[in-house]
Amino acid sequence: MRWLTSENMRHQCLLLAVCGWAVFMLLFVSKFITLSLRDKEGEFKSIKDIPEPLIHNHERNGLPRLSSYSEPEITKRLKTYFKFFIVRDPFERLISAFKDKFLKNPRFEPWYRHNIAPAIIQKYRRNRTETKGLQFDDFIRYLGDPNHKWLDVKIGEPIIHWATYVELCAPCEIKYNIIGHHETLEKDAPYILKKAGMSNLVSYPPIPPGITAYNRTKVEQYFSGIGKREIKRLHARFQGDFKLFGYDEPEFLLN
Ligand SMILES: *[C@@H]1O[C@H](CO)[C@@H](O)[C@H](O)[C@H]1NC(C)=O
Ligand SMILES: *[C@@H]1O[C@H](CO)[C@@H](O)[C@H](O)[C@H]1NC(C)=O
Repeated sequence: MRWLTSENMRHQCLLLAVCGWAVFMLLFVSKFITLSLRDKEGEFKSIKDIPEPLIHNHERNGLPRLSSYSEPEITKRLKTYFKFFIVRDPFERLISAFKDKFLKNPRFEPWYRHNIAPAIIQKYRRNRTETKGLQFDDFIRYLGDPNHKWLDVKIGEPIIHWATYVELCAPCEIKYNIIGHHETLEKDAPYILKKAGMSNLVSYPPIPPGITAYNRTKVEQYFSGIGKREIKRLHARFQGDFKLFGYDEPEFLLN
């Protein structure tokens, strides 16, 4: 599969290669964006027609990761491509990752429930007689553990859904053209497409109101059963993401 537009695009676009999050947001959160993609089976007329597993399959989807290139090729891309990523309130992002990967548990990604959840439970569950699937407090203890790396290494690539943006996107090393916000995606997405020189090729349809806005009630609900000490450890790890991207500190959870 290829981006139909790739040959005649004025600016080259670095999509996904640097930061998995960006295309996730554009292809996934929007769910309606109209792009023309092509693969062996033909052309996808709309985002809705693209099978979800294909979006994640870099062997098949024509969106190779930056790390699959040689060093000169990487340097060339970092110098000349249009680079962007989209951030979200760090704690709301973790709630979303937890829901998407462990509660909804997409059928095409069974390893979240069958491999990753048990590994987290084995190390981080407090109540050993509790047999429920991964709970939010297990997940938070894992993420806030200063020694989380040990399990990260075992889990591998899926940690992109909960690693910090600082770790994932190297915003201090890579000169991004734009860093957008999920909370203002309605405005940021068309702006990014315009700046990338793609607005005549790709349209970003309206997002249903309220979907991208920060929801404090939801954050309060999810964190209501979590101890202050654990929230503080989590916050210590994600503080860079709060600070760097202009998010208010979650004082209501910390004090
Ligand atoms: C541990 O989990 C079991 C099973 O859900 C429950 O019956 C028990 O009350 C829990 N113990 C504590 C200390 O929460
Ligand atoms: C915010 O989250 C709460 C709890 O999950 C939900 O009931 C409510 O509808 C959400 N508000 C909006 C505006 O989506």
